[in-house]
Amino acid sequence: MQKSSVYLPEQLKKRMQSYVASAGISEAQLIRDAIASYLADNAGQTTQPSSGHKPDDQTAIPGRLVGVGVGPGPATMVTIEALHALRRADRVIAPCTSLEAVGRAETILRQAAPDIVVERMKFVMQPDHKARADALQIVSQQIHDYLQAGDEVAFITLGDPNMYSTVSSVFDGVLALRPHTKTATVPGIMAFQTLASKGDVMLTDEQQTLVVLPASAPQDVIAAELANPERTVVFYKGGGRISAVADQLESADRLDNAMLGELLGMAGEQVAPVADVRDRPASYLSCVIAQAPKGAGPKPETKPQ
Ligand SMILES: C[S@@+](CC[C@H](N)C(=O)[O-])C[C@H]1O[C@@H](n2cnc3c(N)ncnc32)[C@H](O)[C@@H]1O
Repeated sequence: MQKSSVYLPEQLKKRMQSYVASAGISEAQLIRDAIASYLADNAGQTTQPSSGHKPDDQTAIPGRLVGVGVGPGPATMVTIEALHALRRADRVIAPCTSLEAVGRAETILRQAAPDIVVERMKFVMQPDHKARADALQIVSQQIHDYLQAGDEVAFITLGDPNMYSTVSSVFDGVLALRPHTKTATVPGIMAFQTLASKGDVMLTDEQQTLVVLPASAPQDVIAAELANPERTVVFYKGGGRISAVADQLESADRLDNAMLGELLGMAGEQVAPVADVRDRPASYLSCVIAQAPKGAGPKPETKPQ
């Protein structure tokens, strides 16, 4: 092993000392890791800048992690940009709850692009905090190792990666281990957009507003949104509590304008008024749109001709 010394500007030294103190590692380890990461990120990239790349670039960037949305279900709703990003990546990771089970995002990708090989990584979805955190730690470490070895890694997710997606925890987990990781996302079509189209629901006029909430949000938060007649309210993760959602919609006099979309683009798809299905069980993959009451939105100012 070769010993070398290097001059560090005072500011950088202070930042390094505060980082090693919080991360519980030695300065030497940080310097070694930083050099290894820099080389992994930049090896063979002499003509490319180290930042500013968008995921639709032609070449993979070593050490970059890209969250890719594959849409709500139909293969036809996987975007060309998503396929491009997945074909470009050195590795494509698909979340699953068991290594023997094909997850939702993988199912969609198999239909859209059977040639793309995925690697499954196991997540725990049950609310056991420790088991979830442990699984995420294992996944983050594995992705960290791939990035460190110079791979561009794509992580697929249902719908869009920037909304209620595992991608947020994976980015956090990887960044905790490898803070300089470049991250990027490729947007995906979301379930509520699909429901708006299939259910013939205009989400907003030019002035109304829209909010997306998990159905598990506090009742008073939901009630406040529903009380605003100019607000279209979208509920995610509401399948298991569809009758409670229906009750809240009814109390707010919003039941008549509410539509349920279940398993959109998948086998067993159902699009129906909430009032017609409120007493039936619905799957986890269900969303509801409570459309702002018609004509309640402020009208655009009429401009003089
Ligand atoms: C973990 S979140 C994933 C959201 C996803 N990132 C998105 O952008 O749509 C899961 C929730 O998304 C909604 N969802 C996703 N795909 C759906 C589908 N195909 N049909 C109905 N709802 C869906 C449901 O509300 C479900 O409970």
